[in-house]
Parts: sequence; C-alpha cells; structure tokens
Amino acid sequence: MSRLIVVSNRVAVPKAGQIMAGGLAVAVNSLFEDRPGLWLGWSGDIAQTAGGFRFEERGNTQFGLLDLTQQDIDQYYNGFSNRVLWPFLHYRADLAEFDRPEMEGYLRVNRHFAENISALLEPDDVLWVHDYHLIPLAKYLRARGHKNRIGFFLHIPLPPVDVLSALPDHREIIGALAQYDLVGFQTASDRNNFAGYLQSMDATMSEDGESFEIGGRCVRIGAFPISIETETFKRYAQQAATSRLIGEMRKSMDNQSLLIGVERLDYTKGLLERIDAFDYFLAANPEWHGRSTYLQITPKSRSSVPEYQDMDHQLSRRIGEINGRFGGVAWTPLRYVNRSYTRPSLAGLYRLARVGLVTPLRDGMNLVAKEFVAAQDPADPGVLVLSRFAGASAELGEGALLVNPFDRDAMATAIAQALEMPLAERQARLAAMLPIVEANDIYHWADLFLTELSKPLADTRSFRRQSTIDSFRRIALRRPAPLSRDNPVNQGS
Ligand code: UDP
Ligand code: G6P
Repeated sequence: MSRLIVVSNRVAVPKAGQIMAGGLAVAVNSLFEDRPGLWLGWSGDIAQTAGGFRFEERGNTQFGLLDLTQQDIDQYYNGFSNRVLWPFLHYRADLAEFDRPEMEGYLRVNRHFAENISALLEPDDVLWVHDYHLIPLAKYLRARGHKNRIGFFLHIPLPPVDVLSALPDHREIIGALAQYDLVGFQTASDRNNFAGYLQSMDATMSEDGESFEIGGRCVRIGAFPISIETETFKRYAQQAATSRLIGEMRKSMDNQSLLIGVERLDYTKGLLERIDAFDYFLAANPEWHGRSTYLQITPKSRSSVPEYQDMDHQLSRRIGEINGRFGGVAWTPLRYVNRSYTRPSLAGLYRLARVGLVTPLRDGMNLVAKEFVAAQDPADPGVLVLSRFAGASAELGEGALLVNPFDRDAMATAIAQALEMPLAERQARLAAMLPIVEANDIYHWADLFLTELSKPLADTRSFRRQSTIDSFRRIALRRPAPLSRDNPVNQGS
C-alpha cells in the first residue's frame, strides 16, 4: 500500500495522556492505523532560520515538524493567510488587508514546504494537503517534477467568482488549486463556486461536470462535508453526566435553562450579532429573566491580528453592557469564558444545554453544530439554532432552527422558540439530524476523500468548453439530492 502524506499548517502530535486536539487530528491519526503515514506541518515554534523537518514517531505515524521564522509567521500566517485569504474566502473582502510583500512571504513559505517535502517524496506516495495556508504547495511540487497523486481539502468556504476575482493576483493563488488531482470542498455550493471560477479561467469540463482541464492538467472537484467522531462524542456526553465540571455547572444553574455557544474568538462566528440578538431576546421576554443563562465559551485566537483584537474589545464591552443592564445580584444572564475546554467537557455542557447557538456569518462547516447534535440525550434533547450560512446547515437544515445571523430580531425570536419548544418537537428535530451525523462521521469523510483521490483521472479528450451560463445551468440541474440515511454524503453529483 502506498504511503499517505498529510500536510497541514498545524500538526497534532499525540501526547501521552492527552486528549487529541480535534476532529482532523483524530481522523488523520486513524488513517494511519492501517497504513504507513507521515504528517507534515509547522512545528508551532519560531526559529532564527526556517529549518528542515525534524521527525517524531508515534506507532505507524511519523510527524515531520518544520520551524518557521518570525518573518514567516508575520507574512505567511498572520499576514496573507489570516488577513487576506481568511476574510476573502469568508466573503469579507472589506476586512482584508492585502499587502504584496506578505503574499511573497506566503509563497516563500509554501516553496520552503515544497523543497523540504520534495526531498522526502517517493514516486508512489499519496499526498493530502489541508486548508488555505498551503494552496500553492502542489504547484511548487509539480514544478520540481513530482507527478504524485495530490489532493487538497479546503476547510473554509469558497465564495463565488465575483468575490474571488477581487482578490489581487487571484489567478496565482486560487488558480494554483488546479495543480491538484482532487480538490474537495465542504458543500456543493463551495464546489460549484470553484467550478464557476475554473470556467471563468476558460477551463474545459468533462461530460459529468466532475473534472476540468486547465493548463494541460486535469483536476477533479467534489463536496466532502467534514464531520466528527460521532460515536466517541456521544460516549463523552453520556459519561460527562457524572463529571465534576458538569456537576458544578448544573448546581450553579439552579434549574435555569442553559443556552450555549462555543467558538474561537473570530469575526466570522457572528458573536457580536448573536450577543445583540440575546439582548433583544432579554428585552422582549422578561419572563425568561432569572430562568435562563447563556454560556459563551470563546478561546482567544489569532491575537496578533488587529481585527481579532478589535473584536475582543467590542465583545467584552457588549457583554458587560448586557449583564449590567439585565443582571442582578443573584443572576448573570451571560457568562463569558475565554479559556478552552476539552471535548469531553464540551460534550457534557452541550448535553446540559437546552439551546445550542451556532450562528456564524459564514463558516466552512462548523463542527460545534455536529458535536451539539451528537451530544444530545434523545429522551430530552436540546435545540440547535443554526445559521443558514454555516456549511452544516446543508446537512442539518431539516432538524435545526435555521436563522439568518444578520437578522437580530429573527434570532431573538428563534431563541425564545427554542427555549419554549415542546419535547415532541425537540425529539423529532433531533431524529432528523442525528442519523446524518452518525452515518457521515469523520472516518467516513476521510475514506470518501481518499477513495476519490485514488481513482484514475478522467480522459480530457472528451472535455468541452462551455459558456459560464451553460455550466452554471448544468451545475444547478445536478444539485445533489437532500441528505438522508441512505445517501449521507452529498458529493455534488
Ligand atoms: N473546541 C475545543 N475546545 C474549546 C472550543 C472549541 O476543543 O474550548 C473545538 C470544538 O469542539 C470543535 C473545534 O474546536 O471541534 C472548532 O471547530 P469548528 O469547525 O466549529 O470551528 P473552527 O474553529 O474550525 O473555525
Ligand atoms: C479553522 C481553520 C484551520 C485552523 C483553525 C484554527 O478551523 O480551517 O485551518 O487550524 O481554524 O486556527 P489557527 O489559526 O489557530 O490554526
């Protein structure tokens, strides 16, 4: 069996006695259980000079960690990845601070990765590259003559061509995705946006609309909605009932209904808009004062980036205002926590909650939405209030209360509706969502992507150039069937 090499900016090396850091970490490590593997990425350390990989071994897996310099981090990570690509790809071109030296730094670090990976590469190795930090990696590996099978998965959204084309030098960045053999997206809509982008670059398309030929290369594209370790999460949630944290939390709640929000401090998560909606809810529903508490868990993230610092200040101020206005000596409406919790603790908190608030302005998938569903007690489940702009809404839309996160009034109404929802409706809604999260778990997701990546490439001789209008019409006509237990994963075909 060929060796699998995973490349991502962050790498989660399992540490003895430590719970693994997240879904991707668990999925990648599980991929390596029955095949030799290598996981490469940034070490998280800053060095005087950008070095080569240093290796650590755990079971079947080798981890290759690369140090970067302060300039690399400023330009590649904080700069171009997080101040240009992150806002642009989340439809927030207004927040992007484009700077050409930072883009050069981004390309330089990608070249540095390619140089170091090139030295390790065997001809039959399969590579799987993750996320927006490393878009041009395949291009630099191809330039070094590597013909390996290389796949890419974008964990965040991809906007339509009109937004993408406002990104300076977008052909060099977004166009570089065509150097992969397979590019995977979270939703059919992201996938279709990329199809539209390729069409705008004069790519020719296969009959089935799955593959494109551009610049002498064939790239296949697809939607592969990422998921969670559903069974593990369900178990964590059941076991947490007896944990100290959950015991203390339950005691402090004194029979109030719990609303919960969990996300990194990030402007894409719609936190300010949600806090405003909670303010409207409290103003319109005095009967819930003293009977409900909103717990917002928000670990700080990317704190060197000015937009994140601004948001941190605004959020703390707004939460202080709300607690000052509505709270009393014995009741704090909104508990705001900046530390991060382990997933078993989160599972217990989700299960304790009557309402899960997941209302990003735009999100690739949002794993918290799926975790909340997996953690519920089917006998007395909570309600998921979910943004229609989270990738998860494509799968969970039937069971969640879908909201427009920009509509604060409607969100306030949804909060009240969720708190007051009768048991039978809560159960029916969970029953519509849980089988989807059970059928498409993280292992299934990884398996689907790698199976697709191993398929032979399409024969480009039959490919045709079509007007963008025609291709959009075709794509619209081929919209995937709604997800169901029998068809748990929407492949965009
Ligand atoms: N998470 C965590 N501890 C925390 C907050 C979040 O382990 O205190 C995890 C959460 O359980 C989820 C992930 O971080 O698995 C966040 O993923 P999501 O897709 O929701 O958002 P992202 O941060 O990737 O934008
Ligand atoms: C999102 C991105 C990941 C990133 C994570 C945490 O999930 O898709 O690539 O690792 O956020 O952000 P950070 O900047 O701390 O790695």
